[in-house]
Amino acid sequence: LAEVSRDAAVAMDTIYRTQRHIYDASRKYFLLGRDRMLDGLAAPAGASILEVGCGTGRNLILAARRYPDARLYGFDISEAMLETAARSIERAGLQARVRLALADAARIEGQDVFGLATFDRVFFSYTLSMIPPWQEALFNGWRSVAPGGSLHVVDFGEQSELPDLFRRGLRAWLGKFSVTPRAQLEDVLSALAERDGARLRLNRLYRDYARLAVLEKTRS
Ligand SMILES: C[S@@+](CC[C@H](N)C(=O)[O-])C[C@H]1O[C@@H](n2cnc3c(N)ncnc32)[C@H](O)[C@@H]1O
Repeated sequence: LAEVSRDAAVAMDTIYRTQRHIYDASRKYFLLGRDRMLDGLAAPAGASILEVGCGTGRNLILAARRYPDARLYGFDISEAMLETAARSIERAGLQARVRLALADAARIEGQDVFGLATFDRVFFSYTLSMIPPWQEALFNGWRSVAPGGSLHVVDFGEQSELPDLFRRGLRAWLGKFSVTPRAQLEDVLSALAERDGARLRLNRLYRDYARLAVLEKTRS
């Protein structure tokens, strides 16, 4: 990993070295919308699916079960998270169908990580809010999508429809984990959609606690 990546990797390993042990049990209460995002992948038979910032592998395992013909790929910048992911994937008996790698989403595209041309589905689940150069990561992810494929993002929203006190409390708490909701996400996705003639669908979930976006690439 290059210098800049190493700083980001150390930051994530510091947060997750201990958190990863309680991650799956605790995060299910506040990383909302992930299962809906996985349903929305609607992956066709034989699809290749990439998760950028796969963490403990929770989503990869569920996606592998939900789409039994698909090939799954996930990378993350945290070695600690990848260790946990590898163990869980093995325990689930899915190691033949799920490949993992160490890489920085802001600096490399998934196809270069795994030596593939492109992926039919690429998703970011509560990852862009933890990547300071999140737009680079998003652009890299979008370039990894095959013609006719789609990019899926689920992440914290603006909590615009929730009480101010809740919103401020949540923001302060998220800040402790280096999490920043990306207020510009919608604008950046809209600009990509316009530039590439792609179709964008955006949903606000749980009173804008979370947002779910799907960007579909044209076939040509
Ligand atoms: C909140 S966790 C989400 C994990 C998983 N996607 C999920 O939904 O459970 C954020 C993940 O993003 C990873 N991450 C942060 N910065 C990254 C980067 N620059 N490149 C790749 N992964 C990164 C972290 O190590 C962590 O595993």
